[in-house]
Amino acid sequence: MARITASVYTSHVPAIGAALDLGKSGEPYWKPVFQGYEYSKQWMQDQKPDVIFLVYNDHATAFSLEMIPTFAIGCAAEFTPADEGWGPRPVPKVIGHPELAAHIAQSVIQDDFDLTIVNRMDVDHGLTVPLSLMCGQPEAWPCPVIPFAVNVVQYPVPNGRRCYNLGKAIRKAVKSYDRPLNVQIWGTGGMSHQLQGARAGLINREWDNAWLDKLIADPEAAAATPHIDYVREAGSEGIELVMWLIARGAMDDVNGGAAPTVKHRFYHVPASNTAVGHLILENT
Ligand code: DHB
Ligand code: FE
Repeated sequence: MARITASVYTSHVPAIGAALDLGKSGEPYWKPVFQGYEYSKQWMQDQKPDVIFLVYNDHATAFSLEMIPTFAIGCAAEFTPADEGWGPRPVPKVIGHPELAAHIAQSVIQDDFDLTIVNRMDVDHGLTVPLSLMCGQPEAWPCPVIPFAVNVVQYPVPNGRRCYNLGKAIRKAVKSYDRPLNVQIWGTGGMSHQLQGARAGLINREWDNAWLDKLIADPEAAAATPHIDYVREAGSEGIELVMWLIARGAMDDVNGGAAPTVKHRFYHVPASNTAVGHLILENT
C-alpha cells in the first residue's frame, strides 16, 4: 500500500530560481532565503520519498486563456522545464509516475472531482522553484514527480474548501495504490504578494503567520477562509495559498488520525515581491 508520509509547503518565486541558477544564492539578499531551506534539503535526503505529488500553479505557460483547467494532473512519463522568456531553467527534466498518476486520476474522478488529464506539459517556476529549494542543484531530481496544476490565475478559481476536500480524496487514492510507495504531497505558491495594480508589493506578515498557525492546528478553519480574504489580506496572488490546503487535506489527522508533527517552519521577507513561507509536516 502506498502512503503519504509528509507534506511540504513552500512559496515559489521566479527570482529564487534565477538566484540559484546564476550563482547568487550566497549574496546578502538571497542568503537568508536559502538558509531557511538548509534543514529541508537534509530532511529530503533522509526521507527518500519514492514519489512527490506536487501541487502548483501554471502561470500561463503550459495553459493560456485558450484553455483553463481548474485541476490538471500530469500523467506523462516526463515533463520539460518551460522557457518562460529567458530560456528554460538549467534544471533536470521532471520524471513522472504515469502509473500512480493514472490511479489517482481514476480514484479522484470517481470521487466527484473533475480532473483534466494532461499527457504533455512543460512545467514552469511554479513547479521547478520548489524542487530547487528542497533539493538544491542535483544532476537529477531525487524521485518521480506527479505535477498537479491548479488554476489560481484566471477567475473563477476554486475555493479553499474544495481544495481541502480534494486533498482528502487524493489521500484516499494514494492509500488504495497497491505498491509500498513513500509519497510526499507538496502544496506550493503564496504567501502574501500582489504583483500588479495599486497595491503591488503588498506583504502581510501578521495575516500570513496567523494563517500558517491555522493551517497547522485547525485546517478546517484555514479551509473556511473565504476567497475574498485571500485577496484583501494577502493580495491578488495570495490566492495561490489555496493550493496548500490540498496538501493539508491529504494528511492523516483530517481523516481522524493523530495530529501531524511540525518538522520545520520558516517565514522570510523580502524575496522579490513575495513573502516566503515554508512548512514541513510529517504524519505521525
Ligand atoms: C513573483 C511571485 C510569483 O508567485 C510569481 O508567480 C511571479 C513573480 C515575485 O514575487 O516576483
Ligand atoms: Fe506565482
